[in-house]
Amino acid sequence: MNIILLGPPGAGKGTQARHLVETRNMIQLSTGDMLREAKDSGSEMGKIVAGVMARGDLVTDEIVIGLIREKLEGDKKGGFIFDGFPRTLAQADALTTLLAEQNESLDAVIEMQVDDEALVARITGRYTCGNCGEVYHSETKKETVEGVCDKCGAQGMKHRADDNEDSLRTRLMEYYKKTSPLIGYYYAKGQLSSVDGLAEIADVRADIAKALAKS
Ligand code: AP5
Repeated sequence: MNIILLGPPGAGKGTQARHLVETRNMIQLSTGDMLREAKDSGSEMGKIVAGVMARGDLVTDEIVIGLIREKLEGDKKGGFIFDGFPRTLAQADALTTLLAEQNESLDAVIEMQVDDEALVARITGRYTCGNCGEVYHSETKKETVEGVCDKCGAQGMKHRADDNEDSLRTRLMEYYKKTSPLIGYYYAKGQLSSVDGLAEIADVRADIAKALAKS
């Protein structure tokens, strides 16, 4: 099964994707994570995207489509979760083509609905394990022992450079201008399901499971 998790920054895409990886043996393809890895590695591409990401602008379609193309050629396990991709209509069209080249198709698009007010609190309170990437929040999802990851036991949490109000404003603007048209695009294709992303994490999980069972 191949699915897209669609929603604004902080909607909970990464949180839910990690659960689907654990329970369904799926592969999470987060273009944001891939770009951050490139940035941290100091590669040429990483240097190009660093400033763009810190501002909250979108990286070019060409770069992210190239990243996804490489991943689709590898092991497919229980299917792909596209997290943060596609973000433009050009990326959506490219995804259809790339999947067809692999004799694959898209099974569902889950839109995670949230309101903008909640996103500021979610983004500014977020931190992740520096080792395994488990996502935490200072109010809603704290680790049991401060600074120690519940998942992998490693010490040391990280904050993202773009998790501040200024960058979030740009990220939201980019979302409404370039990504939100995908809601209508996938609705018209009969592939869209929407869940309440403001519900408790476990309830969002259950709603996604229900939506996937129907697809
Ligand atoms: P990316 O890394 O994709 O960031 P994003 O889309 O802005 O999404 P986030 O990772 O911020 O949020 P999320 O929805 O995963 O939320 P999370 O689960 O962490 O992209 C970063 C940048 O890379 C972009 O700005 C762009 O520059 C570039 N980029 C990436 N892909 C691109 C593409 N395709 N094209 C062009 N450029 C691209 O949750 C957030 C917080 O809320 C956490 O602390 C979590 O614990 C908490 N939380 C989650 N769910 C709940 C809940 N139900 N209740 C309470 N708290 C919750």
